[in-house]
Amino acid sequence: MRLLQTLAASFLLGSSLCGATGTAHKASREPIAPKVFIVSMFEPEAEAWWNIPEFDLLAHNITLPGLSPLYPDVHCTEDYEICQLITGESEINAATTVTSVAFSPLFDLTRTYFFIAGIAGVSPKKATTGSVTFARYAVQVALQYEIDIRELDSNYSTGYIPQGADYPDQYPTSIYGTEVFEVNAELRTIAADFARKANLSDSATAQAYRKHYATPSGKFKAATLGPSVLECDVATSDVYYSGNILGSAFENTTKILTNGTGDYCSTAQEDNATLEVLLRSSARKLTDFSRIIVMRTASDFDRPYPGSSAVYNLLYADQGGFSPALENIYVAGIKVIEGILDGWHTTFSAGVEPTNYIGDIFGTLGGTPDFGPGRKQALVDSGAFKKRSVSRRLSRRG
Ligand SMILES: *[C@@H]1O[C@H](CO)[C@@H](O)[C@H](O)[C@H]1NC(C)=O
Ligand SMILES: *[C@@H]1O[C@H](CO)[C@@H](O)[C@H](O)[C@H]1NC(C)=O
Ligand SMILES: *[C@@H]1O[C@H](CO)[C@@H](O)[C@H](O)[C@H]1NC(C)=O
Ligand SMILES: *[C@@H]1O[C@H](CO)[C@@H](O)[C@H](O)[C@H]1NC(C)=O
Ligand SMILES: *[C@@H]1O[C@H](CO)[C@@H](O)[C@H](O)[C@H]1NC(C)=O
Ligand SMILES: *[C@@H]1O[C@H](CO)[C@@H](O)[C@H](O)[C@H]1NC(C)=O
Repeated sequence: MRLLQTLAASFLLGSSLCGATGTAHKASREPIAPKVFIVSMFEPEAEAWWNIPEFDLLAHNITLPGLSPLYPDVHCTEDYEICQLITGESEINAATTVTSVAFSPLFDLTRTYFFIAGIAGVSPKKATTGSVTFARYAVQVALQYEIDIRELDSNYSTGYIPQGADYPDQYPTSIYGTEVFEVNAELRTIAADFARKANLSDSATAQAYRKHYATPSGKFKAATLGPSVLECDVATSDVYYSGNILGSAFENTTKILTNGTGDYCSTAQEDNATLEVLLRSSARKLTDFSRIIVMRTASDFDRPYPGSSAVYNLLYADQGGFSPALENIYVAGIKVIEGILDGWHTTFSAGVEPTNYIGDIFGTLGGTPDFGPGRKQALVDSGAFKKRSVSRRLSRRG
């Protein structure tokens, strides 16, 4: 397997680098085995890591088939210890790009730490703009039925209803397998502790804007404080939503899908897609699902401050969080990368053993999921066995 992979790598290397903009891979033609692979979603997140004193990611640009037309290259440092891919935004781009890398024979990713490092929306109930969040669960919150609120019976609290369910607060009975991913909680805490060594950036605009979230009840107190490092979970949705009701609906979805353990605080458009690919490649021992860090820095609030509107929050407010969020990808993220490299021989080469379940709702990587209905029922609900939910769905679809 390894030999085949190496041979294939040498072969592909020869041809695929012909069109590469960068320098050719080292003469040995061993697969590239980075210690850290930074996963950026779009150019501003990627640039946060360029022209920094610690390392030069633009030393090698490697053109790889299957990457985004906007971001056709993987970038690596001179010694290939650190590489970066740029997925392009949204779930489809994330899945396609990460697949191209994870299954490429150019790389040996069996000991690589995947460091998802992007900006995100943030719940003012949990944190403020500029904050740095580390997730254990990634939840695909919009993978649901949806009815426009104007056509909804008045007794529904949201137009989102889990698939195969009748009410918004029910557990879904139609399972796709990407609803929830759980990553290594030990590693998350280690990474967050590294990040806590950083002095986070902030902006005067963000400081002024945050004050709007002060209320007598203090329900958005977290939003009024300065940026901090937190451990809380990320929602994935292609739909870029805004407002108290959708914020509350997806908070609830996170709770339901993680059986009460998930703690929704940030929202972005890619992580579940990236994690599904890393799950599938880990199932084939090409990557290691216990070596994933999901870091999201807060660029804007997911809902308006009291007295303003969801539309204003989304389209017009100058929240001031975009720049500090981008800066903090580097400011906090560099501590994580240095921590991994400094501790490579003592800790990270061998890996950090998770004590929590890691993987998906099906238990694809082994172990027993601590969320979802259990492996067997989840497979039933996916339609893999008996068609309870499918026949139900079909009967509904008429
Ligand atoms: C890699 O690409 C970047 C632009 O994306 C460029 O600035 C850099 O010089 C390239 N590196 C090499 C080695 O060609
Ligand atoms: C709302 O009321 C309708 C009609 O009584 C009922 O069928 C439906 O289940 C109710 N939905 C919720 C979410 O309570
Ligand atoms: C996204 O990933 C998280 C965990 O990382 C998981 O909890 C969630 O269900 C996933 N959502 C989707 C839609 O795939
Ligand atoms: C953070 O700022 C404080 C005070 O300015 C300084 O003492 C400390 O060294 C800084 N820490 C880092 C990691 O830069
Ligand atoms: C979320 O759950 C809470 C508690 O059950 C409920 O009061 C609220 O209406 C729900 N939010 C939405 C949008 O359904
Ligand atoms: C999660 O909640 C669902 C629905 O209530 C339940 O069927 C399932 O057994 C729970 N799973 C775990 C692991 O507790």
